[in-house]
Amino acid sequence: MCGIVGYLGRRPALPILLEGLRRLEYRGYDSAGVALARDGRLLVRKAAVRVAELTRLTANLAGSTTGIAHTRWATHGPATATNAHPHTDTGRRIAVVHNGIIENATELRATLSASGVRLVSDTDSEVLAHLIAAAAARGGTLTEAVRTALADVEGTYGLLVLDAERPDVLVAARHGSPLVLGLGDREMFVASDLAALVRHTQQVIYLEDGELATIRADGYETRGADRPPTVVEDVPGDYELGGHPDFMAKEIAEQPEAAQRVLRGRLDERLGTARLDGLRLTARELRGIRRVKFLGCGSAYYAGQVGAGLVEELARVPADAEPAAEFRYRNPVVDPDCLYIAVSQSGETADTLATVEELQRKGGRVAGAVNVVGSAIARECDSGVFLHAGPEISVASTKAFTNMTLAFALLALTLGRVRDLSLGEGRRIARALAELPERIGQVLAEEDRIASLAGRFADAQHVFYLGRVRGWPVAREGAQKLKEISYVHAEAYQSSELKHGPLALVDAAMPSVVLIPDDELAVKNLGTIEQIRARGGPVVAVTTTGLAVPGAEEVVRVPTAGPELDPVLLTIPLQLLAYHTARKLGRDIDKPRNLAKSVTVE
Ligand code: AGP
Repeated sequence: MCGIVGYLGRRPALPILLEGLRRLEYRGYDSAGVALARDGRLLVRKAAVRVAELTRLTANLAGSTTGIAHTRWATHGPATATNAHPHTDTGRRIAVVHNGIIENATELRATLSASGVRLVSDTDSEVLAHLIAAAAARGGTLTEAVRTALADVEGTYGLLVLDAERPDVLVAARHGSPLVLGLGDREMFVASDLAALVRHTQQVIYLEDGELATIRADGYETRGADRPPTVVEDVPGDYELGGHPDFMAKEIAEQPEAAQRVLRGRLDERLGTARLDGLRLTARELRGIRRVKFLGCGSAYYAGQVGAGLVEELARVPADAEPAAEFRYRNPVVDPDCLYIAVSQSGETADTLATVEELQRKGGRVAGAVNVVGSAIARECDSGVFLHAGPEISVASTKAFTNMTLAFALLALTLGRVRDLSLGEGRRIARALAELPERIGQVLAEEDRIASLAGRFADAQHVFYLGRVRGWPVAREGAQKLKEISYVHAEAYQSSELKHGPLALVDAAMPSVVLIPDDELAVKNLGTIEQIRARGGPVVAVTTTGLAVPGAEEVVRVPTAGPELDPVLLTIPLQLLAYHTARKLGRDIDKPRNLAKSVTVE
């Protein structure tokens, strides 16, 4: 959602800030702004515009080597220039950019108003500028002023502060909303997301929760222990389109390589098992796990559902998945013998993060399945599995979803092999996993054929996605992809539920996508096709090679990886179907309306 960029150094700040904002656009925003310090004054430009427009609005601002910038996703008050960040105090000495939510903003606004301060915006963030300015006016360093102001603040923040009178310093503070410092050569970068930094430096420091950093061109200071910089894996090219029309196309195409990365070094084909050292669990502890529960939001939750199926099948350990927000608010009974897995691409999703914290408070054992190294959830969980999908920019998750399911297959195999999964079966699964990246490539080679079906969906008002057992989470993810990027209404149902209500909606204008894994339920799934065809509904069947599918108007086939792993492959054509439908409809594929890449607020 909101994005922060800051720069302090020897080069003009503005182009670096604008370029950083451009790289954070994928997170979703509705206004943008920048503040520079020059000649003891703040130069601020902000508006409810895209970054390209902000670039035009700031064309005449130059000559500063210190600045902060922001992309805002409206929460308190509409997307307007006044509500956009940076916010300043009345004397325009202090400028602040803020991610997060100030929970006692109403009280703080009342206190400030009572003391004569005129608040100009509807935001919670503006109070920060006034509080810091008031503290700075009493003397001391900017760091002291920020610390004093924050003592009165309740809520979450990733905060960056600029003082017109001290352009040689920026102050950053983190509490629940990520901030990362980039270390350059006599220059420092700050951002809420690595994407804004990796073009400039690979050496970064993730601020810890509760940490406050004083940043100067030649380094930074915190009260925390000295720590060596992390060298980030991401390279600038990861954030470029590299010839693809958009990031979703790029990320779909990257899946064979991404899948290789999540499997690399973790499969033991000889012993028919996997190694997930990041879980920090011995074989005995793995054996002691009596339940597995996957917690995440949206596609991460659906990936967890695939994972739960795999754990039950391969390890015969009871497993399920639940939306993180539901779990967190229903005062769950926390089971000490359960392994809770917090699933998140971004590692920043507010509900998933809060769930981790709730579990930890109650003594639950929670591991992360996270893509972004250094993210809040990754850091909060002291064990887990990194997904190694590489940066995912498009709002619609594709390669991270696939890597989640693969990581869960590794987990299921590991848990199975310390229980009753035989060596032979373990080897079969391990071999199938090792071959999966190639199989994904084979599905992608069918893109043109899948794209040719997109017209059916682009013309539809509503689409059903139907599956059962192994196909059910796949159907859910397929419907999710279609609705989020094409805005065509798509609903997933268990095929078995069709007759209990939704069948009433089926007619010639309503296509259905029916998932038919080649497993013991195939005959039942073929029956689903008949039910729909009998009501005149068009059917696209998505199945594996070799299974005869009478009745469907169109059949999309994927190579089989064995019944347990076929759900991973069956998802790929659904990504392509959604993608090409959205293209046909001319949608803004990477940045669908109303959605953000990381949902950092509830
Ligand atoms: C996926 O296509 C969606 N954009 C969305 O459901 C996403 O999976 C969800 O918001 C969770 O995000 P996370 O994986 O970063 O936690």
